[in-house]
Amino acid sequence: MDTHKQLTIGLFGFGVVGEGLYRILLQTPSLKATIKKVCIKHPGKNRNAPEELFTTDRDILLNDPEINVIVEVINETEPAFEIVSTALKNGKNVVSASKKMLAENLPELLGLQKQTGHSLLYEAAACASIPVIRNLEEYYDNDLLHSIRAIVNGSTNFILTKMFEEKLDFKQALLLAQQLGFAESDPALDVEGFDAVNKWTLLLTHAYGIVTDPQSIVFNGIQNIQSGDATVAAEKHYDIKLVAQAKKLLSGKVAALVLPQFVKADDHLSFVKNEYNGVVIESGFADKQFFYGKGAGSFPTASAVLSDLSALRYGYQYEYKKLYHHAPLELADDFYIKAYISFDDWQYIPKEKFEWIEEWHAESERKYLIGVLPFKELRNNSWWRENKTSLILAPDAIIEDVEIRKIRKKSLELAGIV
Ligand code: HSE
Repeated sequence: MDTHKQLTIGLFGFGVVGEGLYRILLQTPSLKATIKKVCIKHPGKNRNAPEELFTTDRDILLNDPEINVIVEVINETEPAFEIVSTALKNGKNVVSASKKMLAENLPELLGLQKQTGHSLLYEAAACASIPVIRNLEEYYDNDLLHSIRAIVNGSTNFILTKMFEEKLDFKQALLLAQQLGFAESDPALDVEGFDAVNKWTLLLTHAYGIVTDPQSIVFNGIQNIQSGDATVAAEKHYDIKLVAQAKKLLSGKVAALVLPQFVKADDHLSFVKNEYNGVVIESGFADKQFFYGKGAGSFPTASAVLSDLSALRYGYQYEYKKLYHHAPLELADDFYIKAYISFDDWQYIPKEKFEWIEEWHAESERKYLIGVLPFKELRNNSWWRENKTSLILAPDAIIEDVEIRKIRKKSLELAGIV
């Protein structure tokens, strides 16, 4: 293997990540990677790089035989997919940070990688600076990976930190996240959980071999969280975080969700503030491991692109081990979740759907309960995120079906019914 391979890069996009990569590469000559051309959309902008580097013609990069790596860090999903797929077909290796494009087109991209034999790496697409994709890919056999819980979106974590610890209001916090280059150009993608579920889709593939459409994972963002929810969280000594989680159940299937959650003070994720991300992995024999690092921003994201470029020098490819070499796992839907739900009016809450309700507080204008629901209720309905209803998972939210059955049996016994 040629470990001294010179990388000649065609870069698509010169925004927060693209420019970050350009600056980082200037400071790392040892990598032997140079950007030959940068394709941009708007030629008129003032850019802090030589003018002759830029073009608006994507074919100049895609058809240049000297360019052996395409780095794609643009904002738009469809052009990103076209660029990445054409580059692979044209015999180039590709590094991408477009999580939405990757998550929505993963089956096709898996096919293209197989068909062309070229490498598509995307470490920057999940948790930016944390090397989580390669870790999940290379470690943690399917049998041993019990669960992963993670904060995968920097902007929402930044907003929650600023709102609840520094008392900024939502708009100010979001504006700051945008100014610092953390937020997506459409910040609804962050705030409403789309970005997090896209990243989770990618991580599920590398963790468990699950290839799924992001829309088939139950998710929500932080848009429904009310100040009263933060008060309840504080009373219980919890933080509120947007948590992506996956847990292997006794059935062998995987429960996966991306929802706000109450996080206990001694949970590793409560340590994750501002634009940082964190990943807690529980696996057989190793017990718990915690990965922590910046999940958004120019240099942290570009550093992940850089590590992919470096990996390309020794011919690294994702093997998708859990998908191709192990028995890939399936998503579960026969489990229960424990959640805190706050709302303005009881009429919005289907009380009969709860397995049980542990707490309820109806005295003030904003009411809340803590109860246990079948997961299918969330998957098949949307009352829990409509009419200003806010659902926040309890800590240890995922409950196995068999646990519920045991509890049901016990209560019938106690009642003298069986
Ligand atoms: N908008 C994303 C975030 C950027 O806030 O996490 C990094 O993927």
